[in-house]
Amino acid sequence: MERVVSGIRPTGQLHIGNYFGAVSNFLKMQDAYQCYFFIADYHSLTTHPTPTDLHQSVKRVLAEYLALGLNPEKSVIYLQSDLPEVTELYLYLNMNAYKGELERVSTFKEKAKTQPDNINAGLLTYPTLMAADILIHKANKVPVGKDQEQHIEMTRTFANRFNRLYHCEYFTEPQAFSFGNKLVKVPGLTGTGKMSKSAGESDCIYMGEEASVLRKKIMRAVTDSGPTEPNAVISEPIANIFSLMELVSDKTILEQYRNAYNDCTIRYGDLKKQLADDMENFIAPYREKITDTLADNKYLSRVAQDGAERARESASKTIKEIREIIGIKKFY
Ligand code: ADP
Ligand code: TRP
Repeated sequence: MERVVSGIRPTGQLHIGNYFGAVSNFLKMQDAYQCYFFIADYHSLTTHPTPTDLHQSVKRVLAEYLALGLNPEKSVIYLQSDLPEVTELYLYLNMNAYKGELERVSTFKEKAKTQPDNINAGLLTYPTLMAADILIHKANKVPVGKDQEQHIEMTRTFANRFNRLYHCEYFTEPQAFSFGNKLVKVPGLTGTGKMSKSAGESDCIYMGEEASVLRKKIMRAVTDSGPTEPNAVISEPIANIFSLMELVSDKTILEQYRNAYNDCTIRYGDLKKQLADDMENFIAPYREKITDTLADNKYLSRVAQDGAERARESASKTIKEIREIIGIKKFY
């Protein structure tokens, strides 16, 4: 059976970008593949969270995975830091990852710009740690959003390089995956770019967002001054609102607003109210479920413990084989 691996960094709550880009695919893959879904707590250390924030976010993401529908009986759900094998493979892969190629990764260049005082080695080697996450289970498919495409390409590079160096066909090439074949990019509320926590709280709609906060955020979403002629080119902030409606609104209603834009009768207040109503309908069933799951410490512990055991079975087999290939074997 084909194998699937994916993870999300615990940096607070999951937003609808995480859901539509990643988690919605996790849910659909559970029945057809052997799935490993984890919480990338090591990766989140690149931005130096406080121990309390990190600990709470890990629990929160686990509760959200479960509340959104990940099933621990079908998938292996675990914490990255429960697999020491991942850090060992990360070390091996780093020996064949070159400074130049790591510096050219667009997420690294972006971070180097936004956090110039903290361009640490973990940030530079983020793609090798991610490759270790994927290759440790010899995954074939990796469900991620569009922003992660380059990292998966790097994973293929590292896998092929390992095979060449050791004259073996050990790793197969993993592919980024999304149902519908196109990797998803959900826009944020601040007018430009993908929805992201690093763009600030007001950019994101969280899966557990309170109803009143949700409405306020959407009503404050960035717009423009309105179309001045029929069939005008749509600016990015308005295109983004339409994209968000595509995810949660009825097609015929969306069509009505698109027509209203084209004949200049659109009122952005009404457009945002419609989006707020439809988003509330989408979020409401998850809100309570997330709160309830988060309060169930026993269940969360059981899932994490069981997941760690099952993930280690697969990881320890891989690392044993890799040690053998590399020549790290006991002679005593
Ligand atoms: P963030 O950018 O908010 O920190 P992460 O980088 O932790 O989110 O993303 C975790 C997963 O969610 C990845 O698979 C990523 O591709 C996906 N993802 C994050 N933001 C978006 C988005 N706006 N659109 C589509 N997918 C996204
Ligand atoms: N880099 C991913 C993100 O920021 C998280 C991640 C870490 C991941 N390791 C992974 C995703 C392995 C897929 C597979 O979203």
